[in-house]
Amino acid sequence: MPDIIERLRQEVGSKAVLTRDDEALEDYGVDESGLGPYPADCAVLCENAEAVDIVLALANETGTPVTPRGAGSGKVGGALPIHGGIVLSTEKMQSILEVDSDDLIAVVQPGVITGDLQSVVEAQGLFYPPDPASLEYCSIGGNAAANAGGPRAFKYGVTREYILGMEVSLMSQERLHFGRRTSKGVTGYDLVAGFVGSEGTFGVTTELTLRLLPQPPAVQTLLAIFPTLAEAGNAIGLLLRNGFRPRTMELMDKTAIDTVREQNGSPIPSGSYAAALVEIDGLEEGLDDALMQMGMSIDEAGATDVLVAQNEQERRRLWQARRLVSPSLTAACRHKVSEDICVPRGKMIEMIRRIEILKREFPFTVACYGHAGDGNLHVNILCDEDPEHPVVAAQLEAITRRLFEHTIELRGTLSGEHGIGLAKRDYMPMEQGPALLAWQRKWKAMWDPKDLLNPGKVLPIASRACHE
Ligand code: LAC
Ligand code: ZN
Repeated sequence: MPDIIERLRQEVGSKAVLTRDDEALEDYGVDESGLGPYPADCAVLCENAEAVDIVLALANETGTPVTPRGAGSGKVGGALPIHGGIVLSTEKMQSILEVDSDDLIAVVQPGVITGDLQSVVEAQGLFYPPDPASLEYCSIGGNAAANAGGPRAFKYGVTREYILGMEVSLMSQERLHFGRRTSKGVTGYDLVAGFVGSEGTFGVTTELTLRLLPQPPAVQTLLAIFPTLAEAGNAIGLLLRNGFRPRTMELMDKTAIDTVREQNGSPIPSGSYAAALVEIDGLEEGLDDALMQMGMSIDEAGATDVLVAQNEQERRRLWQARRLVSPSLTAACRHKVSEDICVPRGKMIEMIRRIEILKREFPFTVACYGHAGDGNLHVNILCDEDPEHPVVAAQLEAITRRLFEHTIELRGTLSGEHGIGLAKRDYMPMEQGPALLAWQRKWKAMWDPKDLLNPGKVLPIASRACHE
């Protein structure tokens, strides 16, 4: 490794290379999954695509594992260097290269912070909808790697829907452009679809062409309080049946609501058992009426209280409380397992019922919140014991497995938006059969024949041995 570090210093500049002599390297061995730490041998803070090319070429030549990393906000350990080696960070690649309001396009480097891009385009009357809760610090490259979602995915879809084209650096020492700048296009295979969500296992994104929309002129936000999570979930179904198409339909249970209040303060009334955060957007005209009708439907569904944000500040406070759910839960316990299951919409109430039963069967506090409009529930298992203790570890494993079994039984999927990474890798065979895993393995091998790029992620190790 010392030789490689020396060559990296020579070729990308010593300032860009962090080694074990630098305390800052520790940050590159952890992310928001709570797994690890997994110490890297070095981290290279690439400032441009050429530096990315150099790092991949050197990794390839020397057989060194290389783990790409955006802002480190991932929940499943996708950016952890589990085999050591090099962490390739794109955090310094922060330029917004172009915002074109005629083409409705932005061209950005991968390190651009999602919230910063939104502010820049909104100042021009444009809109970049994907809004992961971590938008103030996550980056577009990481969003692409995980195919991140967020509350507004309910109406506008996930990151995939907004990536038209990509430039990626490959282990083959090529830099490939694919996709397009047009709003439609079916020339050749859809490589964007393959790379988005591939969690940095196929290549490293060096530039993205993003789809923008016109900014909706008006937004209204309401918070509805319900006696139970299931009733809140029912309300969401009722709204859909009544023909409403809000842009968000978020759900929070009592544990989520109370923990945010305890950790950070919250505008959500204390004593609330469940809350739904619903937002509609569109033309100014008619939006108040739509909101009133929606409020009536929510009343009909059994809400005990409906609060409408009266101004932008109130709206922001509600959203801040929602975005703080995950960090507040992390701060409130010794160890948190963050699940991200997604079930077909019609099965959400049944899933909530099964989660209630699981809560009674295991000795953990469980918080449940998330993007209910999409059937995507963040089920967080909060543990105050040592998670490494064999009894505790076995219980954590058992509750996770039970949760996944219920999810699959209801024809859902293990992850709605956080990805598989390391945390869920070994559960993949619960959802996908050997043939499907084997084909994905071939696909991965095509881009990275030596298995050096983010090795040990996404695809389960056990079935790798079985099916090769
Ligand atoms: C959220 C993140 C955890 O929805 O996905 O808060
Ligand atoms: Zn989420």
